[in-house]
Amino acid sequence: MPHIQSLIRVRLVSSPPVQNHAAMGNTFDSSPTSLLLYAGIVLVLYRTILRLRQKTMNTPLNGPPRRSLLWHIQNFMARSTKLLDLSELWIAEYGPVFRLPGLLGSQKIMLADPKALSHYYSKETTTYVKATYLRLALEKIVGRGLLWAEGGDHKRQRRVVAPAFSNSAIRNLTSVFFDSGYKVKTAWEALFQDSESDELVIDVQDWTNRVSLDSIGIAGFSHDFGALRGNHLAIAEIIESFSTVRPSIFAVISFILEPIFPVLRKVPNARSELTRRLNDSMTEISQEMIARYQKANDGDNAKHQDNSIIGLLIKAGDAASSSGFDMEEVISQMKALLLGGYESTSATITWILIELSRYPDKQAKLREELLSTFPASDPIWDQLNSDLPYLDAVVHEILRLWPPLDETWRVAVEDDVIPLSTPITTADGEEVDRISVAKGTQITIPIACMNRLEANWGPDAKEFVPERWLDEAGLPKKVTEIQGHRHLLTFIDGPRKCIGRGFALAEIKAVVFVLIRNFTFELRDGPGTKIISRASILPRPTVAGEEGCKMPLRVRRVN
Ligand code: HEM
Ligand SMILES: *[C@@H]1O[C@H](CO)[C@@H](O)[C@H](O)[C@H]1NC(C)=O
Ligand SMILES: *[C@@H]1O[C@H](CO)[C@@H](O)[C@H](O)[C@H]1NC(C)=O
Ligand SMILES: *[C@@H]1O[C@H](CO)[C@@H](O)[C@H](O)[C@H]1NC(C)=O
Repeated sequence: MPHIQSLIRVRLVSSPPVQNHAAMGNTFDSSPTSLLLYAGIVLVLYRTILRLRQKTMNTPLNGPPRRSLLWHIQNFMARSTKLLDLSELWIAEYGPVFRLPGLLGSQKIMLADPKALSHYYSKETTTYVKATYLRLALEKIVGRGLLWAEGGDHKRQRRVVAPAFSNSAIRNLTSVFFDSGYKVKTAWEALFQDSESDELVIDVQDWTNRVSLDSIGIAGFSHDFGALRGNHLAIAEIIESFSTVRPSIFAVISFILEPIFPVLRKVPNARSELTRRLNDSMTEISQEMIARYQKANDGDNAKHQDNSIIGLLIKAGDAASSSGFDMEEVISQMKALLLGGYESTSATITWILIELSRYPDKQAKLREELLSTFPASDPIWDQLNSDLPYLDAVVHEILRLWPPLDETWRVAVEDDVIPLSTPITTADGEEVDRISVAKGTQITIPIACMNRLEANWGPDAKEFVPERWLDEAGLPKKVTEIQGHRHLLTFIDGPRKCIGRGFALAEIKAVVFVLIRNFTFELRDGPGTKIISRASILPRPTVAGEEGCKMPLRVRRVN
């Protein structure tokens, strides 16, 4: 594939003279629309070659019919729960491995079989990598850090960052997370005092955003953004704008075609402008934090022996270090952590407060556990994990139902054979227990769909039932066949699995601990309020029919 791609690129590079001729003969129209059209035609040719190869190499799979050439793009833009339900129907109809129509005539393979998934994750970053268009987009926002790297480069980068996320490091950070919770509590108590009312409607999503930013700032970078003290942060605002500036079909097509047609990078659209601002803002913050940290340590990086994220990164970025890091990579890593840790964690805490508002009895049960187990003190990290089973159940039930990332896609960069737990029937009517996948084939992992699959989780799969986690031995057998943290795909698995998982879990638990002990929550418009998930960069909960990404809840103090 890279070979074909570079051929096309060579042709494109040689296009300026063509353009000159065209200008003279005035037949070449270089408007963005026409460029897109030409791009589309070349892509179809390119895909045809790829498809012919894949057709002969790939096991012929069943799957839903293609409805139109733009089917993939429409899917890509919709990203709705409707698509989740559709995927579930397809799994029921075609089995846990099937094909989906991809972009402009290509194919994707959907993997939802446990054995196939563990095989796939064992080959992540080597055989299965992020698609070129995705990496290019990531590079524009976070640079060539963890989210972008593959193979040996990825392994090296993970090694540098990993100690900052060890259990002992997270244990040390737990007090930071409790502090974030208490800052919210103090701020809300001031609001109650000012209003002299015993009930307030508060946009909790705004506060979980602040919790998330301040926690990663202090815990990761020894820097207090002060969002919980009321500081206005450009980065939060820019990220939120992604929810209002929906990509046009043009933006989505250019996004996907960019790697093949770099000229598209020059065509501005509202989303690329936001992307640029996000990169600028995160780069600026990271540079400031590095400067401040170095100043605090007299510029002597090597002398400083801490295991904080920023400490490790800067040590690794030091010229004397052999890790191969440079300062640009340090900044990339910081941006990746900011982006990876911000929306995912705040959306999860928001969802917890929403579901607990929908189920007052479960909220009361959680509060009872927190108050009776720790009447007067806060748990330390080990207790947070082992002494509060209902809190643990609530958190994992939300991570199951509302995973911040609902799908991942990769591309095979070499031919592979994927083994299956359950044999499937191919389009030729043959029964097989493994499938061949040709280089260039796209693979989709339906994270959210797997997490809520009725065939695996039972008839209450779509409901908020924390109780299912109380006896983990009682999880359905089909669920336990899935590898990954608690048999969920929420943090995925393999070499790319979320490095911030322990960080996120400790933060979520500590903040929910403080909030639920001190406040009660109800949906502003009653338990029947329709909540939808709306994509900003990641999906966020919001009230159906309302603008932006707000989540107003009725809050009272616990007496
Ligand atoms: C509920 C919270 C979180 C969830 C559900 C979550 C989920 C994920 C998922 C699914 C991935 C894999 C993405 C992919 O490769 O396609 C990932 C990667 C990553 N996450 Fe998280 N994340 C969470 C919180 C955090 C936090 C708090 C941090 C940092 C402090 C973080 C940092 C990262 C980084 C750096 C990666 C890239 C890892 C790699 O590619 O090797 N995440 N996360
Ligand atoms: C990201 O922002 C920095 C600082 O503004 C800039 O130097 C860098 O070129 C930007 N990266 C991209 C890919 O635009
Ligand atoms: C945790 O904190 C203790 C005491 O402050 C320190 O000695 C230890 O090195 C820290 N561990 C990590 C992994 O940061
Ligand atoms: C509220 O938080 C404080 C800590 O600031 C805690 O001591 C107290 O027990 C909490 N209130 C209730 C009603 O539990």
